[in-house]
Parts: sequence; structure tokens; C-alpha cells
Amino acid sequence: MLRIKKLTVHYGPLPALNEISLEVKRGEVVALIGPNRAGKTTLLRTISGILETTEGRVFFQEEDITNLNPHKIVSRGIGHVPQGRHIFPTLSVLDNLMVGVYIAKRAKGEMEGDLEWIYQLFPILKERKDQRAGTLSGGEQQMLAIGRALMGGPKLLMLDEPSMGLAPRFTKEIFAAFKEMNSRGLTLFIVEQEIHLSLAISHRGYLLRHGRLIKRGPSSVLLESQDVKALCLGEYVGKYAKPGIHIERLK
Ligand SMILES: Nc1ncnc2c1ncn2[C@@H]1O[C@H](COP(=O)(O)OP(=O)(O)OP(=O)(O)O)[C@@H](O)[C@H]1O
Ligand SMILES: [Mg+2]
Repeated sequence: MLRIKKLTVHYGPLPALNEISLEVKRGEVVALIGPNRAGKTTLLRTISGILETTEGRVFFQEEDITNLNPHKIVSRGIGHVPQGRHIFPTLSVLDNLMVGVYIAKRAKGEMEGDLEWIYQLFPILKERKDQRAGTLSGGEQQMLAIGRALMGGPKLLMLDEPSMGLAPRFTKEIFAAFKEMNSRGLTLFIVEQEIHLSLAISHRGYLLRHGRLIKRGPSSVLLESQDVKALCLGEYVGKYAKPGIHIERLK
């Protein structure tokens, strides 16, 4: 579904991503893990067309979408839930959701049932639909950011650090929703530093370090890898570890 070939991206003279090649197949949940500043956010922003590539290509459903305008990429079916959520605090919850429709330039008929589905996934959004989004808790704002991306009707949803800063009960609810979305056919590409979460929810994963992919494989294998443990656990234990959250492994 998504195929990335030898992607290189620079901010200045030094590359933030260096010859990245990876793929996400239809129906999969794929995790991208790696320490701080590895380039994870840069990769998602490049796929979304927010950043320009220096070299390499991005293909989505066999179409070359490299450096297309971000609106066009959303319309093609790639949703992006950004790191830090970026909801519109002064708009209502419902208006934030409708922004997702607007960005993807969807016709009214196309979104039939989507709103009800999102409310089913995250009932709190329905309860708070007329409330200003800025009054929501962090976890609720993350649900809203996910809902907004779903309103664009994505075939592939990319999530950047969805559990960051959230209380365990929200993390649990959000990851349960990811399973539900995937069981309904949505393909997911998840950036998540909390590897016990991301490697439990995913089928396969990639390990990024200093802008290069240094390991790839089934999530169960990556979870046991010394490289993964050294790079992704050492730094985060205590800081981001979410004790008490058990996500049942995806089969
Ligand atoms: N707008 C920018 N201008 C210049 N350099 C940047 C910019 N954004 C990121 N970088 C640099 O690019 C590298 C990759 O950053 P990126 O945010 O993609 O990493 P990340 O893996 O998402 O990190 P984190 O875990 O902190 O979210 C870092 O060295 C970072 O300092
Ligand atoms: Mg990041």
C-alpha cells in the first residue's frame, strides 16, 4: 500500500533521513520505533507532503506521491495524526472533526456513517461535541485528533506518538480503538516510543536511528532484540514507561 524507496530528507546540510526504504501492506499494523531525534516525525511529515524530499520516492497504492501537496495526499487516503495533536482549541469538538472532512475535500455523501463510527470508538467525543476542544483533557484531545483524521476517510492512518503524555486509561482506550480500526480494514503506521505498546499492537516494525533504518522484522522478534532494548528502553524506562498497561498482542 505504502512503499518508500531510498528516501533522503535534509533540514540543513545534514540529512535527517538517509536512504530509507520500507513498506506497509494493506491491512497491516506497522510500528516505527527509535530513540529521540531518530527522524520518526520527519518521516511521517515527508510522507504527508509537509516536508520535501531530497532524494527517493514515496508510492501509495502504486501511485508516485512524492512531494505532492499535503491536501492531495490526504485526499489520496493517507491520514496523519501529528505528534502533539494540534487540535483547534477554540473550535468545538464537532467542528474539529469537520475540519478533517474539509482537509480531505470529501463530499458529504462520502462520510455517511463515519461520524457515528467515531462516536462509537470514542463516546466521550459525542458527549462533548459542542464543547470547545481546548477544554478537553490530553487523552480526549488525542481521541479528537484521531477522529479528525478518520473523518478524512483514510485508507492508511499514520499516528505520531499517540500515547505521549497520556494517563494509562486513555492509552488503553486509544490502543483498543486501534485494534478495532484495524479489524475494520484500516491500515496503520504507528510511531510510538513506548515499545511495549507499539510492538504489541503491530504485526511488524522498523527501528530507526540517526535517520537510518537499522533493523526490521516481526514485532515479537524486535521486542526481544538487544538493539531495540538498548536504544528504546534505556532512555524511556521511568520517563515514559506506562506500568500497568497490558495490550494483548495482535495476532
Ligand atoms: N524543523 C526542523 N529544523 C531543523 N532540524 C530539525 C527540524 N525538525 C527536526 N529536526 C532535526 O531532525 C532530526 C530528527 O527529528 P525528528 O523530530 O524527526 O525525530 P523524532 O524521531 O520524531 O524525535 P522525537 O522522538 O523527539 O519525536 C533531529 O536531529 C531534529 O533535531
Ligand atoms: Mg517525533
